Amino acid sequence: MKVAVIVVAAGSGARLAAGAPKAFVPLAGRTILEHALHSVAGMSHEPQVIVVAPDDRLDEARGVLARVIGSGDVVAGGATRQASVAAGLALVGHADVVLVHDAARALTPAALFDRVVDAVAATGSGAIPGLPVSDTIKRTDAGGAIVATVDRSELSAVQTPQGFPAAQLIAAYASAAREVTDDAQLMADAGHPVAVVEGDPLAFKVTTAWDLRRAEELLRPASA
Ligand code: C5P
Repeated sequence: MKVAVIVVAAGSGARLAAGAPKAFVPLAGRTILEHALHSVAGMSHEPQVIVVAPDDRLDEARGVLARVIGSGDVVAGGATRQASVAAGLALVGHADVVLVHDAARALTPAALFDRVVDAVAATGSGAIPGLPVSDTIKRTDAGGAIVATVDRSELSAVQTPQGFPAAQLIAAYASAAREVTDDAQLMADAGHPVAVVEGDPLAFKVTTAWDLRRAEELLRPASA
């Protein structure tokens, strides 16, 4: 079975405000992208790796990719995550399964990549990691008044890597009719089933300065 992994790293990181595109921000002595690629390098399937980077960071991304994985492709991203994934998909060679992963989920364990690949291989359908929601969730109106309490037993907070049969994902992108925030939504729009598999707390997305601090703490040696 051939696997391709698209690592999207072309976001600006406006909410992190760390002076560099988010994937190129240092985290415990490496960039966020480098951490993400180390996870990919630990997969039990050796994948084709495609990094989608800002167009002024292509050389830096090529250097990290060569150092951590040894080979792969780098392409410039677009204005939205969806456009960046599309740019990566255009470089997928012969693959049965495509995983799409946010570089910003820097601490995602390699085992989660393997779990998603195995689920797609076993079912022939998309699989995405998710965790139960622990907070009580309220639906509010524009003024902040509570309209409803959502039954959290029906909810999952979903993560990446999200995995799909390659042909289905390529066709779903070709027929995409709206802007979405994750690939599973496009697959659902195209009528393909997608299942949630058990996620991992370490796959949290570094979005804010607080998330970066949490990641630094988690990477700190126990004796420090
Ligand atoms: O902005 P957000 O944190 O949701 O982005 C999720 C992932 O998508 C990040 O790894 C980011 O680099 C990537 N992205 C991208 N191109 C964009 C926007 C986001 O590759 N235009």
